[in-house]
Amino acid sequence: MIPVSLAQLARITGGRLDGDPGVMVSGEVVIDSRRVSPGGLFAAVAGERSDGHDFAAAAVAAGAAAVLASRPVPVPSVLVTDVPAALGALARFVVDSLPGVRIAGITGSSGKTSTKDLAAQLVERLGPTIAPAGSFNNEFGHPLTVLRADTATRYLVLELSARGLGHIAYLCRIAPPRYGVVLNVGHAHAGEFGGLDQVARAKGELVEALPAAGGLAGSGGGVAILNADDPRVLAMASRTGARIVTFSAAPGAAAQVRAADTRLDELGRPRFTLLTPQGQAPVALRLHGAHNVPNALAAAALAHELGLGLADIADGLSAAVARSRWRMEVGRRPDGVTVINDAYNANPESVRAALDALRHVTGNGRAFAVLGYMAELGDISRASHEEAGEYAAQVLGPALAGLIAVGAEAAPLLAGARRVRSWHGEAVEVADGAAALEVLANQLKPGDVVLVKASRAAHLEGVAEALLEEAAR
Ligand SMILES: Nc1ncnc2c1ncn2[C@@H]1O[C@H](COP(=O)(O)OP(=O)(O)OP(=O)(O)O)[C@@H](O)[C@H]1O
Ligand SMILES: [Mg+2]
Repeated sequence: MIPVSLAQLARITGGRLDGDPGVMVSGEVVIDSRRVSPGGLFAAVAGERSDGHDFAAAAVAAGAAAVLASRPVPVPSVLVTDVPAALGALARFVVDSLPGVRIAGITGSSGKTSTKDLAAQLVERLGPTIAPAGSFNNEFGHPLTVLRADTATRYLVLELSARGLGHIAYLCRIAPPRYGVVLNVGHAHAGEFGGLDQVARAKGELVEALPAAGGLAGSGGGVAILNADDPRVLAMASRTGARIVTFSAAPGAAAQVRAADTRLDELGRPRFTLLTPQGQAPVALRLHGAHNVPNALAAAALAHELGLGLADIADGLSAAVARSRWRMEVGRRPDGVTVINDAYNANPESVRAALDALRHVTGNGRAFAVLGYMAELGDISRASHEEAGEYAAQVLGPALAGLIAVGAEAAPLLAGARRVRSWHGEAVEVADGAAALEVLANQLKPGDVVLVKASRAAHLEGVAEALLEEAAR
């Protein structure tokens, strides 16, 4: 972070200073007291399990210059009414202090982190870039990421999430983006939004926040990078004065950034010809699944707008690795069983994308799908699980040897799969991951492919990891 005194910190956040006004905060701002660094700031927030205020003294003992708190603590502090809002105000101060930094925001229902990680690996070729670790995309993670910027920073590549209207607008006020990427409008958190039109309204707040198109290149005008394959995303063009750039993974589509001749290797890694206004170049992604093609195109479009040349874009995409865990991690055991760990999260679209990848990787072998529940779908939860199960049985057909639903909320998957009369695989409901492992234990043989996927709360990543370890033993 750029250094600020405690007096400045109190002024910026509208807080009350309890400590030496001249003390400087120069280290990282953190909300996890175990991650405090010397001269940093510890922001105390009350979580579900613990209250950061209880760790205020420990944070200062570990070197923090002060604590940002919402109730009195026995160490140097700035007392505010709302700690996340104070973090937002501080982040906005940092952004305003660094006018040369170019800010890009990425949103969508699925693929934000994957795209952000790809884009960051491209933009880093242009200069010092700050991007969030993992999925730091909400009212805490977003300002904490922005606060890592300093005078050396040239680019911010940010991930913006929403669970309701106004959330993305708020994040855009903290770090006003000039470049906005919208990936898709899907059913993630559909229960909280109440329908796809509401999701589109919320995601479109990103393009509404962009500045109007500039007259001349480099004049600071905004750029909205939209997925032409998603009608709700493309329609956002009418909600912004920014210049529109489109990308599309559909063959022959009309968009500025496209993929042609897309094919997947035996582990589901896409290869394609990248088509941009600069020309074309071959790309071989190291990420798995066809759904990473649009993500790569979005990253390419952003990098192109920031000035990265075509060769660097194609090379950068082909070199980019998965920086965040449990999204389509594909591992092969010594005994020839392949495990796809996609357990980071799940919603109807990402389950379909994962099943498509499973279908591809399975080839002529047998597939097993260990699926936990998709959270936060509200009224459409049951029907969505049934549809996902039906899709699994349809798309994999006889190759799907087993469908294992983990937890009662995931059970409708099985009913859905049984709707496909031609499917005769094993449909099993189990209580937890350990039971899923037992079901698989004596069945797996060389050539089989196992997909493990669920929402975060189900914590099924351990199932995939145990499957990989089992063979190593
Ligand atoms: N374009 C896409 N379409 C469908 N599914 C996708 C797409 N991109 C990624 N996924 C899948 O969605 C899941 C989450 O990916 P990722 O973490 O990139 O998304 P996210 O939008 O950041 O999610 P979150 O809302 O949890 O932050 C993974 O299982 C991934 O394989
Ligand atoms: Mg994410």
